[in-house]
Amino acid sequence: MKAAAITLSLSLLALHFESAGAIQLDLVGRPAQHLRKRASITGSSGLTDSSNIAYYVNLTLGGAEFEVQIDTGSSDLYVAGTVPNSKDTGKTSGVAYAVGAVSGPIKTATLDFLGYTVDNQAFLNIEANSNNQTSGTGLIGLGPHTGSQIQETLGNGTGDPALDRIFQQNKTTPNYITVLLGRANDPAEPLPGNLTIGEVLPGYSNITSQPKLNVTVLPNTESEGQHWQTLLDADGIIGPDGKVVDVTTGVASTSNNKQLTVVFDTGYSLPQVPSSVASAFYESVPGAQLVDVPDLDGPIWQIPCEYEINVTFKFGGISFPVNPLDTSLDLNGTDGDGEKTCYGGFQPIDVAKSPLYDIIFGMAFLRNVYMLIDFGDFVDNATDTRDDPYIQLLSISNASASIHNEFVKLRGSASWDPSSDVNAAEGWIRSHRSLFIGLCVVAGLFVLGGLALTIAACRRRRMARSPAGFMNFQSSYRPLGEPAPREAHDLHLMGANQAQSYNNPWDSRY
Ligand SMILES: *[C@@H]1O[C@H](CO)[C@@H](O)[C@H](O)[C@H]1NC(C)=O
Ligand SMILES: *[C@@H]1O[C@H](CO)[C@@H](O)[C@H](O)[C@H]1NC(C)=O
Ligand SMILES: *[C@@H]1O[C@H](CO)[C@@H](O)[C@H](O)[C@H]1NC(C)=O
Ligand SMILES: *[C@@H]1O[C@H](CO)[C@@H](O)[C@H](O)[C@H]1NC(C)=O
Ligand SMILES: *[C@@H]1O[C@H](CO)[C@@H](O)[C@H](O)[C@H]1NC(C)=O
Ligand SMILES: *[C@@H]1O[C@H](CO)[C@@H](O)[C@H](O)[C@H]1NC(C)=O
Ligand SMILES: *[C@@H]1O[C@H](CO)[C@@H](O)[C@H](O)[C@H]1NC(C)=O
Ligand SMILES: *[C@@H]1O[C@H](CO)[C@@H](O)[C@H](O)[C@H]1NC(C)=O
Ligand SMILES: *[C@@H]1O[C@H](CO)[C@@H](O)[C@H](O)[C@H]1NC(C)=O
Ligand SMILES: *[C@@H]1O[C@H](CO)[C@@H](O)[C@H](O)[C@H]1NC(C)=O
Ligand SMILES: *[C@@H]1O[C@H](CO)[C@@H](O)[C@H](O)[C@H]1NC(C)=O
Repeated sequence: MKAAAITLSLSLLALHFESAGAIQLDLVGRPAQHLRKRASITGSSGLTDSSNIAYYVNLTLGGAEFEVQIDTGSSDLYVAGTVPNSKDTGKTSGVAYAVGAVSGPIKTATLDFLGYTVDNQAFLNIEANSNNQTSGTGLIGLGPHTGSQIQETLGNGTGDPALDRIFQQNKTTPNYITVLLGRANDPAEPLPGNLTIGEVLPGYSNITSQPKLNVTVLPNTESEGQHWQTLLDADGIIGPDGKVVDVTTGVASTSNNKQLTVVFDTGYSLPQVPSSVASAFYESVPGAQLVDVPDLDGPIWQIPCEYEINVTFKFGGISFPVNPLDTSLDLNGTDGDGEKTCYGGFQPIDVAKSPLYDIIFGMAFLRNVYMLIDFGDFVDNATDTRDDPYIQLLSISNASASIHNEFVKLRGSASWDPSSDVNAAEGWIRSHRSLFIGLCVVAGLFVLGGLALTIAACRRRRMARSPAGFMNFQSSYRPLGEPAPREAHDLHLMGANQAQSYNNPWDSRY
């Protein structure tokens, strides 16, 4: 079963950053804990220039330094290249990614991470390549240990992920991490960001008095799919028109079906939301179109850059406004006419779906909050009983006036009326373009069918079935054996026990 579990996420998306941060963080430096962004060119179709956005931190293994991506959506540590002073356990393991996979021997070595030292930390030692994983790089999974492939292979204890080991060895270290994903003040600068273990960043102490959002805990049979996830408030999505976006969860076990389950995953660039939510955000923006951009791995709303789109999410009764520079991302892209265009940062989930969650919040949401994840009892072998795990969020995009001014300065201000219905019909056609085209084709087929009927009655049955045949044109299921599609979705989020399912774009359950 576990072999089918896909336990790692990568941020895949092409982003380039606007030249002024909406928020100035007035913080004291803590040199050991800096993260930074790495950008690399990934191709040219659709977008003229694109690069992966991921946040990285340095750690050492066996004394050698590695720069690793931080990923709250997975639970294993891997590094590429030689690790001195390491021991081979004689076992191998692997982790599949949304794009690609890694595998290799499981080794152990002394880990130094954010000032903590762990002896015999288990990790996957992959072979370096010049393509995506050069020597000296890697990834550290900060998710719950139940998703760890290494632990699965080596067993509890020796196979535990780094954070579990850190929390086990000093019972007085509070069992939490905090993450702050920053913005660049200058496109040439690395993106600032901060990761802490067991302590709160100076100036952000109010986070500990924010509502504790319970981590929704999956049943044991699904524990491999456990993530740092919680429930959005009922009526907890406010669209650009200031109205509640009506949603229903696809997670059957949720007692209030108006509450969506949200996974927090630093390994994602673009938040993944139900199609209906993305449509509510973008379809009434003048000129908005739902497009497929190969570099962005799936459907995404293309919108003119100058429209300010205000949206808000609510957790624990608190509103978390999203900076409009995140709602509408400038990816340095151009439309079919060569004109500059922007993209809706909240991307419709059309390709991957899971019965375990509704939304994945990656960078474009996470840059609007300071996040604390308390592991509670989610630490392997924790002998002392602690509380249940929880998440706290502190809004850092609440200064609406200056954020608005920043947007106008960078993008200009085109007036639009988000509550206008003028674009609704057009918007519907745009957002359901494939369906619309599909229906036209189907209608055409019916007409043809009708014609054919009069000519050859024996063809009748086959023609009558053609609509269904057409609708299944994109197969709903992809055999597990096929390579993972190139897409923004974090496949590991799908439960280990389900076949990976791929929706028809028009087959929305929301
Ligand atoms: C890691 O260390 C190297 C130098 O040893 C430095 O160039 C790089 O910026 C550091 N990366 C991070 C994320 O701090
Ligand atoms: C890295 O690229 C290799 C091909 O060079 C591929 O086999 C592998 O799956 C990729 N890994 C990741 C994590 O993208
Ligand atoms: C790890 O412990 C859990 C429960 O404590 C158990 O269900 C699981 O089978 C153990 N895994 C291994 C590989 O021993
Ligand atoms: C975890 O528990 C197992 C079984 O109780 C034990 O053998 C192992 O040494 C423990 N590991 C750690 C790191 O505490
Ligand atoms: C354990 O953690 C506490 C609080 O973070 C710290 O004061 C103490 O020195 C640590 N003890 C050891 C042995 O590292
Ligand atoms: C967070 O990291 C940035 C650099 O990435 C640094 O400038 C800032 O001082 C750090 N903030 C804190 C509170 O440590
Ligand atoms: C912290 O919260 C209190 C009230 O809850 C507020 O008065 C104070 O300004 C806040 N401080 C910061 C730094 O946000
Ligand atoms: C969170 O969990 C605690 C303990 O299980 C429970 O008492 C509380 O009601 C929960 N809170 C919410 C909002 O569900
Ligand atoms: C944006 O795209 C143009 C080409 O259209 C390219 O010359 C420029 O370097 C790109 N800028 C960034 C920051 O990627
Ligand atoms: C926004 O949040 C920051 C940090 O919590 C706080 O200092 C500030 O007072 C808040 N501003 C508003 C307008 O709520
Ligand atoms: C977005 O919010 C800001 C701040 O509240 C406001 O000034 C601006 O008019 C809003 N824009 C739109 C299009 O609603």
